[in-house]
This record gives sequence, C-alpha cells and structure tokens, in this order.
Amino acid sequence: MSLLFQSLKIKNVEFKNRIAVSPMCQYSSEDGYANDWHLVHLGSRAVGGAGLIMAEASAVSPEGRITPADLGIWKNEHIENLKRITTFIHQNGSVAGIQLAHAGRKASCSEPWNGGKQISEQVNGWRTLAPSAVPFRETDSLPVELSLEEITRIVQNFKDAALRSLNAGFKVLEIHAAHGYLINTFLSPLSNFRKDEYGGTFENRIRFLCRIIDEVNTVWAENYPLFVRISAIDWAEGGWTIEDSVNLSRILKEKNVDLIDCSSGGLVPYAKIETKPGYQVPFAEAVKTQTGIMSAAVGMITTAEQAETILKNGQADLIFMAREYLREPYFPLSAAHLLGDDVSWPVQYERAKL
Ligand SMILES: Cc1cc2nc3c(=O)[nH]c(=O)nc-3n(C[C@H](O)[C@H](O)[C@H](O)COP(=O)(O)O)c2cc1C
Repeated sequence: MSLLFQSLKIKNVEFKNRIAVSPMCQYSSEDGYANDWHLVHLGSRAVGGAGLIMAEASAVSPEGRITPADLGIWKNEHIENLKRITTFIHQNGSVAGIQLAHAGRKASCSEPWNGGKQISEQVNGWRTLAPSAVPFRETDSLPVELSLEEITRIVQNFKDAALRSLNAGFKVLEIHAAHGYLINTFLSPLSNFRKDEYGGTFENRIRFLCRIIDEVNTVWAENYPLFVRISAIDWAEGGWTIEDSVNLSRILKEKNVDLIDCSSGGLVPYAKIETKPGYQVPFAEAVKTQTGIMSAAVGMITTAEQAETILKNGQADLIFMAREYLREPYFPLSAAHLLGDDVSWPVQYERAKL
C-alpha cells in the first residue's frame, strides 16, 4: 500500500489517508452563517474520499473577518448549520476540522471577485486591529493598535470559538497563525513594533499565540488533534525565519499542539515568494525533522506521485491541497487508482470505480 493511503491516528482521531482539504475561504456567508454552499463544497470532498477536510478560516469575532461574507463562529447560533456539515462529513468517512481565524489588519475587504480591496467604515467596513498601527498596504487605513484589554478579549474569542467548534462536531482544530492575519502580525518583527510584553523579543512576539493555545487547551477535547498553521518564512529581509518557525514549533509541541501546517508569506505585500511545485515542502521538513512534531506540507502539490514522494522522503505527515481540490473534489479516488491502492468508494458511486 502507498503511504498516501495509510491511515494516520492523532490522539483518538483516525484519518483514513494522508490527504487533507486545505482551508479555503468561500466568502459565501451572511452574518457568518454556514449554508448550503458550505455543505455541498465540504460535503462533496467527503464523498471524494479526503482523510481530513479543514473548513475555511472562520472568524472568532465579526471584526476578525476578511470580508463581510466570511464564515464565522463568534456566536452560538452559528453552531447548528456547522453541525449539519460535520455530521455529513463524518457519515461519509472523512474527519471534519475547522480553522479559527482573526484577519487583523487584513480585515474589512471586499470579496476577491468584487476586487478584494479594503472597504471603508463608511461603506460596509470596520476599523481593523493589529499589534501596531501599521497598515498592510500604504493605501490601507491605519489599524488600531490593540490595548492589553483587547488582546485578552481576543484570546477569549478564540477560546469561546474552540468550544463552539467542539459543540459543532469538529474533531480537528487549527489555529490560523499564518498569511499576515492577526496572530502572524504579532509573530513577525516586520509588523510588530510593540514596546510591551507582546513585542520586541521572540518570546514576547509569540506570547499572543501561546496565550491563545493555552486558553484553547482548557476547552478543546484532550483526545482531539490541535494544529497550528504558520507562515514558515515571510520571504522578506529582516522578517520571520525558518529558525523562528522551528523554535516556535518546539514550544508549541510542549503545549499539546500535534501538527504544524507549514505555509508561508502573506505578511507584507513586497515579499518575494519563489513559487514552484512543492515550494513550501522544505519548511514542513525542517519543522518535522528538527523538532519531532508532525507537520503538513501545502502549496502547489497537485499529483498523487508528488504527494507520495513527500511522505516517502519523510518530509511531512499530512498533505494539504487547495486549488487542485477545487478542480477535482474526488482527487483521492483517482489518486488511489494511480498508486494501485484499493479504497472503498461511496456505494452510490461504485459502478464508476476505476
Ligand atoms: C480559494 C482559496 C481560499 C483560501 N482560503 C484559505 C483559508 O481560509 N485559510 C488558509 O489558511 N489558507 C487559505 N488558502 C490557502 C490554501 O489553503 C493553500 O495554503 C494555498 O492555496 C496553497 O495550496 P495549493 O497550491 O494547493 O492551492 C486559500 C486558497 C484558495 C485558493
């Protein structure tokens, strides 16, 4: 059997294979609610045989949304619609996860198909939040520098959202600490200029994330996996480095985090990202081999052979895929055929089994 189709158990949760649907914002919610779009989008990937399906960046507070149409989990009323989705995913043999997010200074934008630009408070937008009053783009309005009280409130927002995630039936929780959103802006010296205990040294810049993890741990199920997505490097001079990522991963490992999902970039618009197939795999490899924590590789992984090679080389434990999954929701079914593995198909689809 291929490694890609070997099951993986993390804590008490078993994934039937190593293929994960990477979180993908759908910008299709009203007031944060999941709806039929999310059920079909995520549900069809469960039918398609993914081991793990990570629901998109879900805002822990209304001002933490990238756009007014983001999925949210800031109130108990959101739980019911999400529960319907997790139930369907689990009935179809995949594991449902959710990514908790706060967009920070990259909040208050229009949907990508409406231009993706920042929208002002006067239209439909809101004041954005950040560790320091420095905007992402020079043309963006200044974010509000968070006070200590507001930091504590947002930590509490993550904790409350984690409990709601559990009540909605999710079995994996991922904290979004990547792509230039709020937690990432605390981590990087290119966006955090604070003079208090949340800025300056490495220990101070990781404090906000560590507090979130500590609080989430008090409510998230002990036997369910906890992941963190990081931007392993900023791709900019003077920014966050792979050594920082390795050091952070070592600390998170001691805090009950099971896996580091290794993305990169997104913090500053002038980053020079060198994209090519599997370009972020070396980050997953560094984190895994230098700390012993599990890691996920993501980014321009599009074929079964490529995914299998990453696992064979011991570079990662899970393979996250995003855009290829938009083209091919049933990717694992054809990947199994290509690798010569016999996997079970939904009975309704068996007449088409390759
Ligand atoms: C439509 C779309 C939405 C995305 N939304 C998120 C998100 O909610 N959270 C996140 O961490 N990454 C998000 N990403 C990034 C992907 O999860 C993934 O890391 C990136 O696309 C690289 O993987 P790929 O080459 O397989 O597409 C998104 C990507 C796409 C294409």
